[in-house]
Amino acid sequence: MYEDCGYVRSLACTAMSYTAKHYDFRDKPADYSSLAHDLGALLTGESDLIANAANTAAVIFTTLPEVSWAGFYFLRGGELVLGPFQGKPACVRIALGQGVCGAAAVQRRTLVVPDVQKFPGHIACDSASRSEIVVPLLGAANALLGVLDIDSARAARFDDADARGLEGLARVFVTGSASLNR
Ligand code: SME
Repeated sequence: MYEDCGYVRSLACTAMSYTAKHYDFRDKPADYSSLAHDLGALLTGESDLIANAANTAAVIFTTLPEVSWAGFYFLRGGELVLGPFQGKPACVRIALGQGVCGAAAVQRRTLVVPDVQKFPGHIACDSASRSEIVVPLLGAANALLGVLDIDSARAARFDDADARGLEGLARVFVTGSASLNR
């Protein structure tokens, strides 16, 4: 859906084209698949970690309904450190194993939390958050690179279809961001 606008491709053209598309997520597999394609097009030609993480967070936050926070924590020096995100300011450092992010990172699997108040050790950055999903970012040989964290003010906002869809978006981000894999 992105036109080739040459030098300004990643600026006005892609942004304007992107906002023109509407996803209602009534068919989650189909919409996530289409969104993964669009995200791939948006990231094409750019491998900078911060730029791609910022655009990925913006795509998720502005496209998925009922999302209050969307962003990244990256593995830095043995802990998770806040990366680009959309939403309210958040906790900067999370120890591996701590909170939903730290648990998903250690377990290297997606965690869907229907009620954050029932998750032992949940880190409440925003008191309005009711449910969340955290997808680990995995590189070559299953190496942990960080996590993608999405929050909602609605309980049980995320299901298995969101998990599979967001794992697909995370793969597009990891594949398109060479500096992650250095
Ligand atoms: N709730 C997360 C902390 C990060 S914020 O939601 C942005 C957790 O428990 O891991």
